[in-house]
Amino acid sequence: MVTQGLNPEQVAAFNRDGYLLLPGELSPGRLKALFDETAKLLSDFRLEDHPLTKFSTDEKAHIGDDYFLKSSDKVRFFFEQDAFDDKGELTRPKEKAINKIGHALHNLNDEFHADTINDRNRAIAQSLGFKDPLVLQSMIICKQPEIGGKVPSHQDSVFLYTNPPSAVGFWYSIEDCTAENGALSFVPGSHKWANIAKRMIRVDGNKMGTGFITLEGVEPPREPTGDEFVMPSCPAGTLILIHGSLLHKSETNKSQKSRYAYTFHMIEGEYDYDILNWLQVPPTEEGGRNFTHLYA
Ligand code: FE2
Repeated sequence: MVTQGLNPEQVAAFNRDGYLLLPGELSPGRLKALFDETAKLLSDFRLEDHPLTKFSTDEKAHIGDDYFLKSSDKVRFFFEQDAFDDKGELTRPKEKAINKIGHALHNLNDEFHADTINDRNRAIAQSLGFKDPLVLQSMIICKQPEIGGKVPSHQDSVFLYTNPPSAVGFWYSIEDCTAENGALSFVPGSHKWANIAKRMIRVDGNKMGTGFITLEGVEPPREPTGDEFVMPSCPAGTLILIHGSLLHKSETNKSQKSRYAYTFHMIEGEYDYDILNWLQVPPTEEGGRNFTHLYA
């Protein structure tokens, strides 16, 4: 049996809105497997040999120690900024202090591999017109109770830049997402008017972590107003496809409940992905790039 991709109405909705919700994409069995695997990863990692790297979406803060920059082909753990006190001590158990886990779950973890590299996602990529989709930057986003950090309005292609921009995010809710625990919200149609006008890059060949450069001659998008954002209902097991130019955000999780999600991205392998991008994979023996080809 041929696995179905998106139907024409779904493709039209994605092209119109810049995002598409597919409820029930993860079966109850797969949901439980991903939830249990997340809990296991959080409980098994060792604090003793961890550099305590925090993850921040603040553009003024340089994220970019070696632990972060060399994580494209590993499974590494990044802390919430608010998980530490003034003395740098963790204020909660490590399981409740991790912001995200990444960035090669799609290759190194059997459970997450199964929900990434599969016929359904190949069919979806085909529906969206990908010729040679490359999978990269897979992450579990934990959005912890009380401290799960807010993610300001952004566009994913700023962080995974190809020329021309081509990133699409696959975002699976592992738990119910609500206004209280920091569900995603989107500016519908913004992918049509919001240019990719800057990129996150490695600064000075890694020595200074990451920073941003503006793209010459590209008009930056205006700041969206709060009431332009729409927060669709997103029960556990929903897949949200997110266009790389779409403006989206999420607020701090102030609830007592986590908001686990799994996400990875695709870029078009036929477009240029240069060495300025923060995420670099070790070269292949032939000198090429070692990204995962979804269709291969
Ligand atoms: Fe995003």
